[in-house]
Amino acid sequence: MFPALCGALLILAFKPSAFANEKFQYEIKEFSVPLDHFSFLSNESFNIRYLCNDSYVDKSNLEPPIFFYTGNEGDIEWFAQNSGFVWELAAKQRALVVFAEHRYYGKSMPYGADTFNTSKPEHLAYFTVEQTLEDYAQLITYLRNGKRLPVVAFGGSYGGMLAAWFRMKYPHIVVGALAASAPILQFSGLTPCDIFNKITTSVFATAYNANCSVNIGKSWKAFESMAATDAGKKQLGDIFHVCNAIKNADDLKNFMDYLEEVYGNLAMANYPYNSTFLSPLPANPVRQLCFYLKDLHQNDTDLVASMASALAVYTNYTGSTKCLDYNDSNAGANYDSKGWDIQSCNQMVMPMCANSSDTMFRTSNWDFKEVSDKCYKQFHITPKAYDIVLRYGGRDLEAASNIIFSNGLLDPWSGGGVLSAPNNQIHVIILPEGAHHLDLRQSNPLDPASVTSARQKEAEIIAQWISHF
Ligand SMILES: *[C@@H]1O[C@H](CO)[C@@H](O)[C@H](O)[C@H]1NC(C)=O
Ligand SMILES: *[C@@H]1O[C@H](CO)[C@@H](O)[C@H](O)[C@H]1NC(C)=O
Ligand SMILES: *[C@@H]1O[C@H](CO)[C@@H](O)[C@H](O)[C@H]1NC(C)=O
Ligand SMILES: *[C@@H]1O[C@H](CO)[C@@H](O)[C@H](O)[C@H]1NC(C)=O
Ligand SMILES: *[C@@H]1O[C@H](CO)[C@@H](O)[C@H](O)[C@H]1NC(C)=O
Ligand SMILES: *[C@@H]1O[C@H](CO)[C@@H](O)[C@H](O)[C@H]1NC(C)=O
Ligand SMILES: *[C@@H]1O[C@H](CO)[C@@H](O)[C@H](O)[C@H]1NC(C)=O
Ligand SMILES: *[C@@H]1O[C@H](CO)[C@@H](O)[C@H](O)[C@H]1NC(C)=O
Ligand SMILES: *[C@@H]1O[C@H](CO)[C@@H](O)[C@H](O)[C@H]1NC(C)=O
Repeated sequence: MFPALCGALLILAFKPSAFANEKFQYEIKEFSVPLDHFSFLSNESFNIRYLCNDSYVDKSNLEPPIFFYTGNEGDIEWFAQNSGFVWELAAKQRALVVFAEHRYYGKSMPYGADTFNTSKPEHLAYFTVEQTLEDYAQLITYLRNGKRLPVVAFGGSYGGMLAAWFRMKYPHIVVGALAASAPILQFSGLTPCDIFNKITTSVFATAYNANCSVNIGKSWKAFESMAATDAGKKQLGDIFHVCNAIKNADDLKNFMDYLEEVYGNLAMANYPYNSTFLSPLPANPVRQLCFYLKDLHQNDTDLVASMASALAVYTNYTGSTKCLDYNDSNAGANYDSKGWDIQSCNQMVMPMCANSSDTMFRTSNWDFKEVSDKCYKQFHITPKAYDIVLRYGGRDLEAASNIIFSNGLLDPWSGGGVLSAPNNQIHVIILPEGAHHLDLRQSNPLDPASVTSARQKEAEIIAQWISHF
């Protein structure tokens, strides 16, 4: 009777999935979208992937809800497996579940293997938030198949930003959006650029004891002084089991950049149970790491050795990491740094800085010109610092409605999140003990009470949107 809830036109090649044995199951489909939604000259198109599961739908309901995850910076299957709340709620609300893959990520490449060819910067021209939202609008329109259906957008992190913006720009297509840990205010002129590093520092200072962040703050000088000689560089590399020897100042910088990236990732994925979201991690990973840094070290050699033991909580939880690849700019995390680096060089310009006098990080300034020059050199594109603010309103959100902004206060991205509601149709939910979009994850016996109650509240609001539709 309802053969085509997931769409029947384009069931394309079933590629073997790395996620085939994982928890959540779905059909993998493809959908043709225009390469450039905003041109009437070109009719080029390509396929984006989407995941679909219609098993929860009450087949006697002619207008079932659609739960639509607005895919973000990575393989969509990864988000589907790490957004268990969407599945749990779909089972209750008997919704169709759809996870759409963001163009230029995963297997949704407009120019196939040639998409990121550095000699063809014109390939990057259609890599924007607006083109992506338009993809989602067309996919939903196709799935609705002429029917009026209540569609709820879901997303975490950048996916949450997309969910919120989707509701703002396409209120006739989605009845509401759950934007979990969506830092839509982490843009120029809206939020101090050091807030991410300040929150991360406070997470490390309070996870075990205050010596943790003090040791990390001192470690930069210890690495530099150890690396002052060739013998010291070798010693440093040996202590951390690096894959490629630390031979010069660039290598040392990459090594320290890597560590800073790790600390941010750890604060994000600081979940109360073990997880594999960014990389395989134990429960409460920041606390685990800080256990190795509980004593204050005056002696550089001791400090560096403790840092290596501590770092292994992140880099080597499974014990199967052969060597430390400090050149990996996203520090082993699952997201696609290639695509994200490009988006940071067009619209997603999110200023970051730190002051070593009030954080555990090295001092770094936000220098837009420097960022812009680097973007041009790397991708031949020039960022626009105020593009997102112009298009989506910055802090002026009074006209928006039916969006839930949830933020965990242990999440470094909460600094750029919406923490107070501009009107009574926008709901702000604060999770004092939550890391990065913990509420969007599958429920777990180790969830803190605030997360369980946040999910209940989210479920109630979403049920209201659907019943009022
Ligand atoms: C949808 O999810 C349910 C519950 O996990 C599962 O039993 C079913 O096989 C899935 N359907 C598809 C089409 O994968
Ligand atoms: C694009 O439009 C041209 C001119 O109408 C047509 O010849 C061509 O087949 C179209 N291509 C696609 C992919 O639809
Ligand atoms: C990039 O494009 C150039 C020009 O078409 C081609 O010669 C080269 O093989 C491509 N590089 C890759 C890595 O595909
Ligand atoms: C993660 O936790 C689960 C549940 O407690 C346990 O079964 C599993 O072995 C743990 N995995 C690792 C890698 O520690
Ligand atoms: C920090 O380390 C010092 C030296 O090992 C130790 O005496 C002190 O108790 C530690 N501080 C805390 C808060 O545990
Ligand atoms: C640092 O401590 C180690 C042992 O803990 C010791 O062998 C070494 O001499 C100390 N170095 C300095 C500079 O104090
Ligand atoms: C990871 O742990 C294993 C087992 O303890 C060890 O052999 C290996 O050297 C570690 N890798 C790194 C990079 O430290
Ligand atoms: C690491 O990155 C630097 C550029 O920052 C590059 O020069 C170097 O060759 C890379 N090393 C390896 C082993 O990839
Ligand atoms: C860092 O903070 C200190 C103390 O507040 C201040 O004197 C210094 O100018 C700041 N440095 C930067 C680069 O902002």
